[in-house]
Amino acid sequence: MYKVSIIGAGNVGASAAADLAVSQLANVVLIDINGGVAKGKALDIVQTGPILGHGALITGSVDYSATANSDVIVITAGIARKKDMSRDDLLKINAGIVSAAALEAVKYSPNAIFIVVTNPLDVMTSLVQQVTGLPSTRVIGMAGVLDSARLESFIAEYLQVSPLDVRAMVLGGHGDLMVPLPRHASVKGVPVCDLVPAEILDAMLKRTVHGGAEIVGHLVTGSAYYAPGASVAVMVKSILLDERRLLPCSVMPHGEYGLTDVYVGLPCIIGRNGLEKIVPITLTEEEQAALVISANSIKASIALTDSLLHPVEITETEAEEKAAEAEEDTTTAKPPAPTSANTGDAK
Ligand SMILES: NC(=O)c1ccc[n+]([C@@H]2O[C@H](COP(=O)([O-])OP(=O)(O)OC[C@H]3O[C@@H](n4cnc5c(N)ncnc54)[C@H](O)[C@@H]3O)[C@@H](O)[C@H]2O)c1
Repeated sequence: MYKVSIIGAGNVGASAAADLAVSQLANVVLIDINGGVAKGKALDIVQTGPILGHGALITGSVDYSATANSDVIVITAGIARKKDMSRDDLLKINAGIVSAAALEAVKYSPNAIFIVVTNPLDVMTSLVQQVTGLPSTRVIGMAGVLDSARLESFIAEYLQVSPLDVRAMVLGGHGDLMVPLPRHASVKGVPVCDLVPAEILDAMLKRTVHGGAEIVGHLVTGSAYYAPGASVAVMVKSILLDERRLLPCSVMPHGEYGLTDVYVGLPCIIGRNGLEKIVPITLTEEEQAALVISANSIKASIALTDSLLHPVEITETEAEEKAAEAEEDTTTAKPPAPTSANTGDAK
């Protein structure tokens, strides 16, 4: 049996563990700062075995030594924003949690493939790769599978067809600037653009971009977890069984799509080595431009996170110069400077 460890036994972590248990693919270790939550949820999932017909070994712990020799590590740990906490404070805290979790996990499983889930997704995936020093092919972010599934489900619902026959792809960052590709969406090979009127398809694309927020709006507290958990399970399966599925994931390009040095959602082959290949697909000029805008926004968010984690001491003169620059910025009609407040992570 393979071994998968999930750091963060919250809603997404536990949902992914339950899906993996049913697939009987791997034993799962749930790790949480709250050991009771990890142990309790593990026991609960084990007890679905006699009902659903699986015998997976699911355990919970606070101790990372329990994760030793995992094939895959999934990171979902983080905290939700609290009253009186700024978005920058939240970003800094979650960056600290994710970095520490990744460092502990890689110590016990140096050969694992890492799947990152914590938001802001592309920034956290970049952070995990940086702190672990693992090859970028072994650190992958989960977002595109989820965003694509949302679009696929809207198309299936409208056309009254099985969601299994609908295929669609969403690239770019996991936020307001994600890039759905309707031209490449199909129902068993039949282009969706031929089946769905343009204005309806357009509304579906908008709904996809705000798909996470729509669910948060209903839940009020917390965010989506069934589809995110299932998306994690699909990626884990493709890795463990070397299925080489073509999945949109947050990965580091080395010149593909004209992009470098940034984690961003691209079409990938996911297999036993993690990212096997970034697949080149033809984009229109408009789609390529949207992808570059999305990637640049992630780069700005990564720089912001870096500055929050490693604040640089500046002299009084530099501070005055920066203040003057900021003053000038507010008086000219430039777009807002990137902050975590406009990373618009999609949940
Ligand atoms: N990438 C995506 O598409 C996507 C989709 C949904 C959710 N998310 C993100 O995934 C993350 C988890 O979401 P959730 O709904 O499961 O949240 P949750 O609050 O239910 O779970 C988070 C868990 O992390 C644990 N935790 C906190 N600090 C920890 C630490 N230092 N070590 C270990 N565990 C720690 C908490 O105790 C909690 O159980 C969030 O950042 C959310 O925004 C991403």
